[in-house]
Amino acid sequence: MSKVMVMNHPLIQHKLTLIRDKNTSPKDFRALLNEVALLMAYEVTRDLPLKEVEIETPICRTKSKMISGRQIGVVPILRAGLGMVDGILELVPAAKMGHIGLYRDPATMKPVEYYCKLPIDAEQRDIILVDPMLATGGSAVAAIDCIKKRGCKSIKLMNLIAAPEGIAVVQAAHPDVDIFVAAVDEKLNEHSYIVPGLGDAGDRLFGTK
Ligand code: PRP
Ligand code: URA
Repeated sequence: MSKVMVMNHPLIQHKLTLIRDKNTSPKDFRALLNEVALLMAYEVTRDLPLKEVEIETPICRTKSKMISGRQIGVVPILRAGLGMVDGILELVPAAKMGHIGLYRDPATMKPVEYYCKLPIDAEQRDIILVDPMLATGGSAVAAIDCIKKRGCKSIKLMNLIAAPEGIAVVQAAHPDVDIFVAAVDEKLNEHSYIVPGLGDAGDRLFGTK
């Protein structure tokens, strides 16, 4: 069974409260979401392997550590996942990006895929799949299916807010994918929106409603 890591760092929790507030403007929503994504990326990358290298400081030669091994691929689920990308790339600027386009059919709530383009060497990278909302879990499962079809073996899922239902669905379908969230909320409502949640992440991010 995969791990679920809830990041309860005070800065993350403070910014999450501002993001949830319905009076927060799209401009502030965008800025805050990227700030939280940066802080979350710090934790998501905590287990990156290190290698020892020899360097010369202005004083002497010394051994020091650098990240080694596989490189990172950041894959947002469109649209709302885009709102977390800049924050992550500030920490890992050398990461390559993929994009997966999915929307929930408003009648069935099932994900409809309209785009999937991953880095050419995706299977050699550690993939961080990002989306602010994990509701029914349908979009995340479909996105992970698509990434695994390309041969990727190392995938982490990063969400701002998750519903317990969505976590269970992802864990059942992809027990090898660890989930990193800022909050696990109470439940889904009758329209499969997260309660209390933050509303529609894409609409709030892009001001489309
Ligand atoms: C939202 C959100 C997730 C999905 C989560 O996207 O950004 O991708 O819903 O719901 P699920 O867990 O029930 O699948 P939406 O479908 O609203 O598309 P958008 O980002 O294009 O607005
Ligand atoms: N998508 C959103 O944007 N918000 C939710 O609460 C659920 C799905």
